[in-house]
Amino acid sequence: MSIPIHKYDVVIVGAGLAGCAAAREAAHAGLSVCVLTKLHPLRSHSGAAQGGINAALSEEDTVELHEFDTVKGSDYLGDQDAIKLMCEKAPETIRWAERMGAVFSRNDEGKIAQRPFGGQSKPRACYAKDRTGLTLLQTIYEQAHRDGVDFKDEYYVSDLIYENGKVNGVFAFDLIDSKPMIFNARAVMFATGGYGRAFRINSNAHANTGDALSIVARHGLPLEDMEFVQFHPTGIAGSGVLISEAARGEGGILYNSKGERFMEKYAPNKLELASRDVVSRAITKEILEGRGCGENKDHVLIDLTHLGEEIIMTRLPELRDLAITFLGQDMIKEPISIAATAHYSMGGIPVNKDGHVRKNTKEFVEGFYAAGECSCVSVHGANRLGANSVLEALFFGRHVGQTIVEDVKRGIAFKDAKVTDATPALERIESIRTSSGNEKVPALREELQQGMTDNAGVFRTEKSLLVQQENIKKLKERFKNVRIDDKSKIYNTDLQEAIEFSHMLDYSSFIVDGAIHRKESRGAHYREEYQTRDDENFLKHTMAYMDKDGNIKTEYMDVVMGYFEPQERTY
Ligand code: FUM
Repeated sequence: MSIPIHKYDVVIVGAGLAGCAAAREAAHAGLSVCVLTKLHPLRSHSGAAQGGINAALSEEDTVELHEFDTVKGSDYLGDQDAIKLMCEKAPETIRWAERMGAVFSRNDEGKIAQRPFGGQSKPRACYAKDRTGLTLLQTIYEQAHRDGVDFKDEYYVSDLIYENGKVNGVFAFDLIDSKPMIFNARAVMFATGGYGRAFRINSNAHANTGDALSIVARHGLPLEDMEFVQFHPTGIAGSGVLISEAARGEGGILYNSKGERFMEKYAPNKLELASRDVVSRAITKEILEGRGCGENKDHVLIDLTHLGEEIIMTRLPELRDLAITFLGQDMIKEPISIAATAHYSMGGIPVNKDGHVRKNTKEFVEGFYAAGECSCVSVHGANRLGANSVLEALFFGRHVGQTIVEDVKRGIAFKDAKVTDATPALERIESIRTSSGNEKVPALREELQQGMTDNAGVFRTEKSLLVQQENIKKLKERFKNVRIDDKSKIYNTDLQEAIEFSHMLDYSSFIVDGAIHRKESRGAHYREEYQTRDDENFLKHTMAYMDKDGNIKTEYMDVVMGYFEPQERTY
């Protein structure tokens, strides 16, 4: 079979904020850059980020406070070198975005407006109404275009070309007609975003299926801290669609069915503005103990009516629309129904602070980079603070783009790819396309998602996790017997969903395995049998590797400490 081989200096997979920012930097420096995305770039999930992007801009705030809040928020698992770098560069990142053309909301003095977010000492989230991610994504995408980045929309990357410790490109196929091709490059960057779709109730786009993680793991490379999944406190009840933390930042109050402001019990100082893990557990506990609202007692209420129409319409218009559309509730007139929703993944492809992907705890893969939610740098540790992810994606995307430029100038070798490099990926795809079993992807996926929500969610136990480990094992077996109805090559979404589901199975097994091994509670990972943090045994990163049979082996890696010593974490 003849397969076209396209050659570039840099190939980036994913066109959200991290991918676009890296692409812009590399192209601006004169490199040939191709961005591959299975969507249109402006449909990337960064565009769904509502509430803001953190930077210590105001006179009352400092970079050190931002660092401290982030380290504390991470439950001391965040790497302090990376956190320091990100917080120091945050103000400059905002100024850069403005110079690129992003329009932020302003305060009465004409300065960039900043709203309070959970777990932070000062109002620090810069925003563009409640459409911050979309504003930034449109801006950076335009600028990347202007610098000549070659965007290839609706291309699905399903493998990495990796040989002797060096990445030389990726294998992809065109979603229009399934035509396979190789993208051969000096440097490859993964910026494919999050993977919350493993859970039934989640705030993620349909595309967030964690393809990159599984692709990396299948090459025997490690994934880091996968057990840490963030549950956002305010998902729309039933669907999980996000109601931004901006709602709490602007003054939203949480009530249970007895009309109690229950956060007084769980976080007497910060109340609704405690960090996300604390608020999500509080909401879930209220529901589990029978104080949920509605016929099924499966949600609580957030009340914003006291803000009044003007504030809601100027600062939270998108949220109001979402609540009307999905719940039929108008937040100007009544409290709206919410519950915790799987939102963000703190773990991912391990990288150092310059975006180099780790081969193991000591070595790096040559020519391979990652940034944004698919990566673990790790600035969020065990729990991310709201509005630090947009910052992470934008800052590290740009920074890793600059790293690539330096590395290419220093002379990363260009190794020609061969047509046979596509063979493993082609065989895998063909075996799914032609398989004639009797299992259907939607049914298997529903089982996976329900099991993850029930057994590896906000509260976890050894028993629930072992149940889910067994579920995944069985689902993997059943997947071997899958059948897709569409055998054609034109926009074969049946095939795409099957490949995506196989990726979801892989990374879900890392989440569950990591959660079984981590016998403590830290940040978003809460084990009922071990309710406290255990620094003596678990102040360390999980590094997990999958073998050819899907078994996972766990190692640990030191956390990069700095000037903040672990303390008890209260809000
Ligand atoms: O709540 C939000 O607006 C989400 C922000 C974030 O996840 O950082």
